Amino acid sequence: MDDVQTHFRGDAENLESWLPLADKVTPERFALEREKIFRRSWLLIGDTAELKEPGSYFVRELPTLNASLIVVRGEDGKVRSFHNVCRHRGNKLIRGGSGCRPAITCGFHGWAFSNQGDCRVVTDEHQFPGLDKSKLSLLPVATELWHDFVFVNFAPRQSLAEWLEDLWDQYPGYFEGHEKVASYGVELASNWNLGVNSFTEGYHTLFIHRNTVPDYQGGKGNQMRHRPFMQLMKRHTRYSAPGNPDHHETPAEALAWRHGHKMLPAATYQHGNLPAGVNPSRAERWLFDVIELFPNTVMLTGQYWHMVLSFWPTAADRTGMMQTAYAYKPKNMGERLSQEFFRSRGREVLREDLNTLEAQYAGLSSGVMTHGYLSRQESALLHHYRVAEEMLGAAP
Ligand code: FES
Ligand SMILES: [Fe+2]
Repeated sequence: MDDVQTHFRGDAENLESWLPLADKVTPERFALEREKIFRRSWLLIGDTAELKEPGSYFVRELPTLNASLIVVRGEDGKVRSFHNVCRHRGNKLIRGGSGCRPAITCGFHGWAFSNQGDCRVVTDEHQFPGLDKSKLSLLPVATELWHDFVFVNFAPRQSLAEWLEDLWDQYPGYFEGHEKVASYGVELASNWNLGVNSFTEGYHTLFIHRNTVPDYQGGKGNQMRHRPFMQLMKRHTRYSAPGNPDHHETPAEALAWRHGHKMLPAATYQHGNLPAGVNPSRAERWLFDVIELFPNTVMLTGQYWHMVLSFWPTAADRTGMMQTAYAYKPKNMGERLSQEFFRSRGREVLREDLNTLEAQYAGLSSGVMTHGYLSRQESALLHHYRVAEEMLGAAP
């Protein structure tokens, strides 16, 4: 077999292929994951598209951590997150959605907070002997930005820059060149780990996507679609998917790309127009990259687009999946059409991926098999669990 050999960066040697899979989806494990992984990780919860000016905010429910957050840009321009809990008697301050308001006012008794969290107004304040407004600010959650992305951490042990390692400074200008084109959410009767896992290997593309995108990847000289490049960082993983230069263009694709950028499959890499983080090994036959932002987010980065998928569990067998797609900013209807084709084709492929998750969870949670044997091409999965075990084993 003369298929491409994967160029690994990072420790890919000491991975145990015989993986105790059934152990990963139990309720006991999920209780620990919630405290030792989700509470201590930087989690991507949204972007700054709705936070353009001081006072603009969005509400983000995070049932995984039993929290509701208000993410708001302050008068000073800084983006912060606060628990969506009034400091008087705990009412929810904003029920949901997004917008822009000069102050955050509670609908129960009218206490008001600035967009930097300071308690400004206590209704009938003289009836509260000894009250000190400076001690009644909204309760913050650590918040940092990476490009346009908002990350929060409920118990930070390092900065976001340290957390993101190599990823931190390798994407100058890249994300800013794109705008949001679609989002999609679904509730799954499955385990969140399985969701992340299904998007961090390309082994399955030979089979479950054989009708929608039969020949986007691989082709002559790489029939088994080996990843040309795979990087295992301290926590995250990044790999490149192999483009197929012999892809047969369908009539619909020809129509979509006639007046707009060829978003998929961009089977050969065009040198020089992407930052170092995108196609990091400069593979000639390149389709897009897949990044696992440990623990629960997968990001796909392509030539004219990127996509974010996040998995938010509420139980060992309950997971909310949120997908957001971003693409280059269209200048005319033809370019808009190219985006629309990308969006609809992407949705079909995504549903094929999601379709495996409930059945796989049912199989694993039945207890009939304990372990699975994984391929070198599934190293990102093995690494995901290696990182998880380290965090679960860490001191309280
Ligand atoms: S609970 Fe908010 S003002 Fe009373
Ligand atoms: Fe897939």
